[in-house]
Amino acid sequence: MPTIRAAADDDLSALGTAGIGADRLQRRLHLAKSGEETFLVAEVDGHAVGMLSVRWSGGCDGGRPWLYGGEVLPQWRNRGIGTLLWNEAERIARRRGAVQVSLDVERANGAARRLYERLGYVIMRKDLA
Ligand SMILES: CC(C)(COP(=O)(O)OP(=O)(O)OC[C@H]1O[C@@H](n2cnc3c(N)ncnc32)[C@H](O)[C@@H]1OP(=O)(O)O)[C@@H](O)C(=O)NCCC(=O)NCCS
Repeated sequence: MPTIRAAADDDLSALGTAGIGADRLQRRLHLAKSGEETFLVAEVDGHAVGMLSVRWSGGCDGGRPWLYGGEVLPQWRNRGIGTLLWNEAERIARRRGAVQVSLDVERANGAARRLYERLGYVIMRKDLA
């Protein structure tokens, strides 16, 4: 069963197989350690198989927390792990007093859009570019 917990240094090599650069993962971890962000991982049998960050201020949409950098390793998709990660980020945001959160997604990213629609996200802004 997957569990969701805070990311740690030891997770970075497993998460790097998702194709996100080591420097970006290090930065996310650094920001989480400083308290500016939260960096969640999904763990299965001791291995990190998914991740999601929350930037608490200065994100893409004014004062709302910004959920970004979410990814589940390809071989672990379609088992509910993404749902668990986003649910946990929302739970933490609610506990911190947020009443809304934001995220952004490419139009063509059907898997992510289906997840977000299922979780109740609505389109608030369309980028014209
Ligand atoms: C978007 C993403 C994070 C979703 O992660 P995920 O773990 O596959 O998400 P879930 O498993 O919760 O949901 C995905 C699908 O699995 C289904 N599912 C959930 N639990 C399931 C289970 N136990 N058994 C079978 N299917 C299940 C869901 O119904 C959903 O189906 P749908 O896509 O047809 O609506 C993943 O596809 C990913 O990492 N994509 C690449 C990175 C990316 O695009 N990130 C978002 C950037 S904005």
